[in-house]
Amino acid sequence: MNLTLRVWRQRDKTKKGKMVTYHVTEVSPDMSFLEMLDVLNEKLILEGDDPIAFDHDCREGICGSCGLMIDGIAHGPEQATVCQLHMRSFKDGDTIDIEPWRSGGFPVVKDLVVDRSALDRIISAGGYISVPTGTAPEAHAVPVPKKDSDAAFDAATCIGCGACVAACPNGSAMLFTAAKVAHLGLLPQGQPERDSRVLRMVGQQDAEDFGGCTNIGECSAVCPKGISMETISRLNHDLLGALRAGAVPAS
Ligand code: SF4
Ligand code: FES
Repeated sequence: MNLTLRVWRQRDKTKKGKMVTYHVTEVSPDMSFLEMLDVLNEKLILEGDDPIAFDHDCREGICGSCGLMIDGIAHGPEQATVCQLHMRSFKDGDTIDIEPWRSGGFPVVKDLVVDRSALDRIISAGGYISVPTGTAPEAHAVPVPKKDSDAAFDAATCIGCGACVAACPNGSAMLFTAAKVAHLGLLPQGQPERDSRVLRMVGQQDAEDFGGCTNIGECSAVCPKGISMETISRLNHDLLGALRAGAVPAS
C-alpha cells in the first residue's frame, strides 16, 4: 500500500504546531499502525530529519499509552488501541490525518505525545483501599457476589488511555473516573473509602482542565475496553449518596 500521511508536528508545548505531509510506500496490510509509523521514522532518521514523537510501550493493548487521533477518531476506525490497529483497515492510496489527543487536560509535549498525568492524579486522589497489616486473610473469607465481581472486573479493564477524553466534545474524563470509582466501589474491600473515594476522585477531576459530562456517549463509543455509560450512572449514584450522607473526603 502507498499512503499519504498528514501528521501533527509540534516541537514542544510553547511552539505552534502544524500538519506536515509525508508519503509512505510499500506498507504491508499486516503491519500495525505503530509499525507503519516506525517505518516512516526510520526513513526520516536516514534523511537526517527529526523522527515523529509518539507514545507507545506494550504494543499489546494493555498500557494505554499509544493514543492518537486518526482521521478525527480517537484510536482510528477500529474500537481498539492504535497498537492493535492494522493497516488492512485502510486502502491503498488513502490520505490519513494523525493528530495528538486534543484536550485542555492533555497538553502536547511534542508532536503526537501528550501529558496524561492528570489521569494519574485522579487515581492518586482515591484509587486505593485500606489493607490492615498482619496475616493475609483466607481467600474465601470475604464472599463477593458474581455479578459484582464481574462488573468490578469490567471496570478494572480501563487502561487509562484517555480516548474517552479525546472523543468527548466537552473534554470530560468522566468515563475514566467512573471506571476507577466502580472498580473498587463494587467490592467489599472498597467499602470503607467508598464515599470519600468518589468525592476525592471527582474533586480532582474537576481541579484538572477537563470539561463536565453531559451524557453524550462519544467516550464509550471509542473506549477500546468497552467501558459502558452505565459506569457513569454508577458514579453519579455513588456521588449523590456520598453528598446526601454528608461525607467529607478523607485527608
Ligand atoms: S474508560 Fe476506556 S477510553 Fe477511557 S481511559 Fe479507560 S480504557 Fe481508555
Ligand atoms: S502501546 Fe500499550 S496499549 Fe498500545
